[in-house]
Amino acid sequence: MRRKELRIKVCEYDALEELPESDQKLLLAARKASNNAYAPYSKFCVGAALLLENGEIIAGSNQENADFTDGLCAERVALFYANSTYPDKAVKAIAVTAKNANGIVEFPAQPCGSCRQVLVETEVRYSKQIRIIMDGQKYIQVLDGADNLLPFAFKPSDLE
Ligand code: THU
Repeated sequence: MRRKELRIKVCEYDALEELPESDQKLLLAARKASNNAYAPYSKFCVGAALLLENGEIIAGSNQENADFTDGLCAERVALFYANSTYPDKAVKAIAVTAKNANGIVEFPAQPCGSCRQVLVETEVRYSKQIRIIMDGQKYIQVLDGADNLLPFAFKPSDLE
């Protein structure tokens, strides 16, 4: 038997102004994108913004549907758009925010499992870790790389 311990690393910031400038800019783009959410069913408005290696910022918001299972999360709206529009540009960072009736969520907005899986795939695709910035009223969390969000991810190499 082998007992192993995995460590994840996370930085927490108490306010937007404490973040490095490029993270601030990305998070503000995510907050702006959350205003374009189409979330008449959950009323939970999510915004995501990606920083590409060419400096471009791509934003997305959650898009719901009367057939609930047909909606898509903000993160995957942004990631699929970026990867299909700029297939040769790596994604350097993603900022995620979410608002409910009380405004920005109290605790950092966590990407769902499916979005984590797509983040991992994007990292593998471009051989580049993605910085992940998660917005919350109480604090903002920053992770360097999707492995910190999804250890034991299913990766392309697992198909071999
Ligand atoms: N949602 C996202 O956009 N991203 C996530 O990572 C979690 C959930 C959306 C999906 C749905 O429109 C709403 O939030 C409530 O689950």
